[in-house]
Amino acid sequence: MPRNRVVLGLQWGDEGKGKVIDLLACEADLVVRCQGGANAGHTVVVGGKKTVLHLLPSGVLNENARCVIGHGVVLDPVALCHELDDLLAGGSDVAKRLVVADRAHLVLPSHPHLDRAQEAAKGASKVGTTLRGIGPCYTDKAARIGIRAGELCDLKACEAKVREHIAKSNVIAKALGAEPLDVETAMAAWLPSARRIAPLVTDSISILHEAMGAGRSFLFEGAQGAQLDLDVGNYPYVTSSNTGIGGILTGSGLSHKQLGQVIGVVKAYSTRVGSGPFATELNDARGEALRQRGREFGSTTGRPRRCGWLDLVIVGYACRLNGIDAIALTKLDILDGERELPMCVGYRLDGKVLDGPPARIEDLARVEPVYETLPGWTTPSTGARTFEALPKQAQDYVRFIEKRIGVPVKWIGTGAGRDEIIVR
Ligand code: GDP
Ligand code: IMO
Ligand code: MG
Repeated sequence: MPRNRVVLGLQWGDEGKGKVIDLLACEADLVVRCQGGANAGHTVVVGGKKTVLHLLPSGVLNENARCVIGHGVVLDPVALCHELDDLLAGGSDVAKRLVVADRAHLVLPSHPHLDRAQEAAKGASKVGTTLRGIGPCYTDKAARIGIRAGELCDLKACEAKVREHIAKSNVIAKALGAEPLDVETAMAAWLPSARRIAPLVTDSISILHEAMGAGRSFLFEGAQGAQLDLDVGNYPYVTSSNTGIGGILTGSGLSHKQLGQVIGVVKAYSTRVGSGPFATELNDARGEALRQRGREFGSTTGRPRRCGWLDLVIVGYACRLNGIDAIALTKLDILDGERELPMCVGYRLDGKVLDGPPARIEDLARVEPVYETLPGWTTPSTGARTFEALPKQAQDYVRFIEKRIGVPVKWIGTGAGRDEIIVR
């Protein structure tokens, strides 16, 4: 069993990373988030009880695991306090075992405000963001005008900087046609949370390196998915961080030699929430049926997710770019009852068949999926605990993916619950 593991989404997010991380967290001493922010919505279902994590690592339900929010994360103090309170109400005081990186950038009240203003100004070409202020916060980080969690140690000075930031952002918001943010109202909501988070902020890099040196086991939790990566995803319909192995490295401060096994989470079909090309999208009753059966509504925003067939072009691409060692295939049970299952194995563009997505969004929007169609199955896979217990056609579906991608499928999800999974 590998000591350290990384879990990454290989599609457009919402692959079921939360469930896989929760399962693997029972073997981890530390669970570490490295990028993204409260745009993530990671669902964990244990004993019928559902918990959705946004900023806290999905390993929180392992009471023995130390939870780390690494410096690549953009941290919204208000969102984090809500999450801590929800877990506290359920009897778990996560703050006692939570570390927040001093280098993590803070999501300020002006960031969601700007996110909304920018999206509204884009009109029909909007990204369809989660409106959590992610893009504006990472923009400030890159522009070197952000405010980091380490600043919270001097709350008075930090408050002055945040107020100044809101004033400056209001000028931009106004230019975008939005109403300015009321500074006093915004600060009244933000400051108490910031004050509460302050004692948790520390030098996370030293803590991670010390724990690594002491032989502790790590689970690194990716957020979003490969096609939402800022560099190699469907730009500009992406998030503002690196969602792959690169984001784990830069967002944690550990070396590539220390990461261990890299697991890619793949949903047995495709979903996407927000705008952007989606080659295998089903804009018909079959897409609606997948949405209903798979309960494909956003964990963060509640928006209906767009649904379509499995796209092995993007999964293969993500495996190559991230050095994926093993796949966790989720939601196979949702395909129960489908008569036939087309899988996209190539993109046809201008007479050529491509094995990876083209860079230009206009080209990506024009690709025609090349399908290979496998027969479906009529007996249920729901709740199966062994590979042999799956209907034969479901086994063939899994084997087809393994053969085509060249990566073993080690876990197969057959239900939302923690134990509804096949481990091979
Ligand atoms: P994440 O963002 O990658 O963690 O995924 P989300 O939590 O946003 O969405 C995945 C959804 O699928 C959640 O509602 C999970 O409870 C559910 N889920 C995960 N794995 C399975 C599975 O194997 N079968 C079924 N039926 N549901 C699953
Ligand atoms: P998890 O971790 C699915 C999408 C948004 C939008 C784009 C940019 O739960 O898989 P942002 O708010 O990040 O600026 O939005 O990225 N998006 C996600 N889609 N799952 C997520 O996270 C997502 N996080 C962001 O819908 O299209
Ligand atoms: Mg999600």
